[in-house]
Amino acid sequence: MTGGANSFLSPDECVGRLPPSHRRFCGLSRGHLVFFVLVVFAVFVFYRTDTTATSSDWRPKWLTHYSIKTWRTPQNLSSEPITLPPYKSPGPYLVEYPYKYHFTINEPYACKKYKPFLVLVVPVAPNNRAHRDIIRSTWGGESLVLGKVVQLFFLLGQQSGVGVEELQEKLLEESKEYGDLIQSNFVDCYKNLTIKTMVMMEWLDTYCSGTPYAMKIDSDMFLNVPNLIRMLLNSTKTNYLTGLVVRGGAVLRDPKSKWYIPASLYPREFFPPYVYGMAYIFSLDLAKTLVEASKHVKPIYLEDVFVGLCMQHLRIPPTDPPTSGSFYVLPVKYSRCTFSKLIAAMPFEYLNRVWAWIDVKKSGPYC
Ligand SMILES: *[C@@H]1O[C@H](CO)[C@@H](O)[C@H](O)[C@H]1NC(C)=O
Ligand SMILES: *[C@@H]1O[C@H](CO)[C@@H](O)[C@H](O)[C@H]1NC(C)=O
Repeated sequence: MTGGANSFLSPDECVGRLPPSHRRFCGLSRGHLVFFVLVVFAVFVFYRTDTTATSSDWRPKWLTHYSIKTWRTPQNLSSEPITLPPYKSPGPYLVEYPYKYHFTINEPYACKKYKPFLVLVVPVAPNNRAHRDIIRSTWGGESLVLGKVVQLFFLLGQQSGVGVEELQEKLLEESKEYGDLIQSNFVDCYKNLTIKTMVMMEWLDTYCSGTPYAMKIDSDMFLNVPNLIRMLLNSTKTNYLTGLVVRGGAVLRDPKSKWYIPASLYPREFFPPYVYGMAYIFSLDLAKTLVEASKHVKPIYLEDVFVGLCMQHLRIPPTDPPTSGSFYVLPVKYSRCTFSKLIAAMPFEYLNRVWAWIDVKKSGPYC
């Protein structure tokens, strides 16, 4: 190279060798070029930060979480702590998912040790010890049903407000005593139920992947475990989701509604088929499939609808239970006859559930 110490090509050489359209670069020094590259890089970095900081769109935000994860995965970087960007609310109707939540109380070996046929997961608020105790002493206490092992877990988030530390102490004691608590580090509230459900899916896939079936059931429900096992013994083993299936569920556009979804978030009038969230059962292979699908679906706060949207994305339709009248999501009056036939039901609040359990379990004719 014959030109000045710092330039790539001398102006003459350059004009001679480059086509006319590129001649404006002639005379660029190496210093200029380094500066140019730095500016391009700075613009790139600014653009990335800017889209995540100002956009109300959901996609760039979680994509960033994912790209950060990917950038840090190589072995030589694995010792560095993963620093996530500061929390920014995705707005009132979306939730912070996918996100790298972790478990603050865990039972990593339970499924490996007991090899259950069915895992029951009950989402419950951390301070709702009363419901956990009722469940443990009723349907949740059935660990061997028709020769099949059933394993119960309660899924909690983090309590917010005063007395959090004392509550956490109590939860650790409770976990030691019963070995059935799983707690993750998201704030436990109604608006975060989608996070709870997806964290449940992640947990099941990670720690119970050898288990054939799982059920998500709310803490105020009644469950007839033998009827459930009977149904599962004759059910599909993959891509299976059942419960009370809602078809043509209307999207509620009244902002005062508990289940309001703005048109900007979901423009269609009806949701795809989904299974009511109070009680649904799925083959455990779906846990992994749904976690994958969730990365492509807007994480709306209605957890059962969100699962339905993921199923639609996967083109897997939910299955109706073989017998109608197996699932009730509106309060049903207790009778030994009714409760002996169904699988899951919402009892009236005033029902003493421990008494009802003893009543339904005693011997003698049901109806
Ligand atoms: C949902 O959980 C996230 C993560 O813990 C938290 O930052 C957010 O405030 C929670 N949402 C609500 C409505 O409390
Ligand atoms: C099992 O399911 C099939 C169809 O899904 C049905 O025809 C059969 O009667 C069921 N068997 C029992 C024992 O319920």
